[in-house]
Amino acid sequence: MSNFTMQQYYGARAPEYDRVYLKPERQHDLRSIESWLPLALSGRSILEIACGTGHWTQFIAPVAKSIYAIDSSPETLEIARVRVPAQHVQFVEGNAYSLPTLTPLPSGGFAGFWLSHVPISSVRSFLLSFNQALCPGAKVVLMDNRFVEGSSTPISNQDADGNTYQIRSLADGTTHQVLKNFSTEKQLRDAVAGIVDNVHYHEWEYYWALEYSVIAS
Ligand SMILES: C[S@@+](CC[C@H](N)C(=O)[O-])C[C@H]1O[C@@H](n2cnc3c(N)ncnc32)[C@H](O)[C@@H]1O
Repeated sequence: MSNFTMQQYYGARAPEYDRVYLKPERQHDLRSIESWLPLALSGRSILEIACGTGHWTQFIAPVAKSIYAIDSSPETLEIARVRVPAQHVQFVEGNAYSLPTLTPLPSGGFAGFWLSHVPISSVRSFLLSFNQALCPGAKVVLMDNRFVEGSSTPISNQDADGNTYQIRSLADGTTHQVLKNFSTEKQLRDAVAGIVDNVHYHEWEYYWALEYSVIAS
């Protein structure tokens, strides 16, 4: 097993990352989200966290005013820049735990398949800092996996805080332990309670999404 950090793991996985979107059983959900997500963020200037290879950026870009997408991995960003070459989309190396202050503050936020990698003890502080990086009234969409037996990689262990981990293999045969939490609707609603407005939870068979508006802090 490697001792890679999360950033190193995703850097190494970049060339094979998009295979996760080819799982046959998930295609129906994916088509549905590809239609829903752009509508949810339409017309907004968006700060996207952990954009990876730009898989979701490509669907949001045609209807967004602008997108400032960050990821910690130069390898995934390189793929994203080729995939979404639009002038109003910027892919920038950055850290989800130390967000940029953009001027003007973005009117939308998106984080796809990122919250599951945030340790439970850091979820609330991450969300507060995400809110602070956006303007009051900004619309946010968080989206991530539901655990589905037979489709999801099994959970290998759980720590004292309740964080769960998976052992993942890459094409080169290396194996990596990766933090991956599967939040329930209640956990998500609790995480944003009191710090956001207009919360809506959406669920598909393999995925969930949480929509909300940022309130002035
Ligand atoms: C599961 S992938 C999601 C990629 C993309 N959002 C998607 O849905 O296809 C998680 C991403 O988080 C990035 N990442 C890991 N740690 C990060 C950090 N501290 N700050 C920003 N991005 C990070 C990885 O490089 C990877 O691209």
